[in-house]
Amino acid sequence: MVEASAPVIGPLSDMDYSRFVGLVRERNRPSGGVRTVQEVMVQARIGPGSRVLEIGSNTGFTSVNLSLLTGASVVGIDINPNSVAEAEKYAALHGISDRVQFQVQDGRGLDIEDASFDAVWVSNVVSFVPDKDRMLGEVARVVKVGGTVIAVPIYYRQQPPTDIVDKVSEAIGTPLDVMSKGDWRAFYEKAPDLELYYESDFVYDLIEDQGVEKYCDTLMAKEHLAALDPNTQTQIRDRMGYFMRLFNENLSYAGFSIMLLQKRLARDEVELFTSHSAPLLARD
Ligand SMILES: C[S@@+](CC[C@H](N)C(=O)[O-])C[C@H]1O[C@@H](n2cnc3c(N)ncnc32)[C@H](O)[C@@H]1O
Repeated sequence: MVEASAPVIGPLSDMDYSRFVGLVRERNRPSGGVRTVQEVMVQARIGPGSRVLEIGSNTGFTSVNLSLLTGASVVGIDINPNSVAEAEKYAALHGISDRVQFQVQDGRGLDIEDASFDAVWVSNVVSFVPDKDRMLGEVARVVKVGGTVIAVPIYYRQQPPTDIVDKVSEAIGTPLDVMSKGDWRAFYEKAPDLELYYESDFVYDLIEDQGVEKYCDTLMAKEHLAALDPNTQTQIRDRMGYFMRLFNENLSYAGFSIMLLQKRLARDEVELFTSHSAPLLARD
């Protein structure tokens, strides 16, 4: 963990985004922020008795806010120890450390018993691993039968230019799969016992460069960053501006979806008369 008085270890110019957010302790939100948390709470019926696991909990925004809104018990796991330490502080700040806990774990091999959670939340974390199927297998394993997998993936509505794909791949530390909405649906439904029952789609509000600068200024004003030497601050500010502008451009080709899937005992029969929502006709 980087303390105010400690020098930043290693060059920042090639630090990937997962390590970078742990360093700056950015409070990473799921796409849609607190409105996504509220929509999930209602649609997945999360309440005080629910036990929820979040994979890729980062600095704790989703886990803490979900618990604040619902009273649910939440375990957040993340591969980055800095993010986990920061998430623990965030839960303590809200006085809910008794029901929201964080652990350093790899979502591709969880030290968690089968069928132990009512809901498992995976936002923007599956994209960060090359072996996505392994993470999906773990998600499906630890959710209870009848429970819900909450997926909030970023999906592409248009093919982004190659240089954006290359730069985002470098930023997330793994080759970016340019997945459409249909690709994500097919990915989750590949798990034989998961069945999609709810989805809603959004596009991002894009920000001007000024907005990016203002956001970076706010992050740089954090106590542990403001106390660093000016040279290190400049390096962090440059890397931050680079990531934010890159992600802003990347999201102009994308949207995000809230997808809820129920874990079922087994799909014993193929559904014949499938359906989809359609506008009413005049004669209806
Ligand atoms: C972009 S953040 C997403 C945070 C939050 N879930 C959201 O939607 O905003 C991605 C997080 O996934 C974590 N991560 C990456 N690979 C992981 C893995 N194999 N297991 C658990 N967490 C991982 C990173 O450390 C980072 O905190």
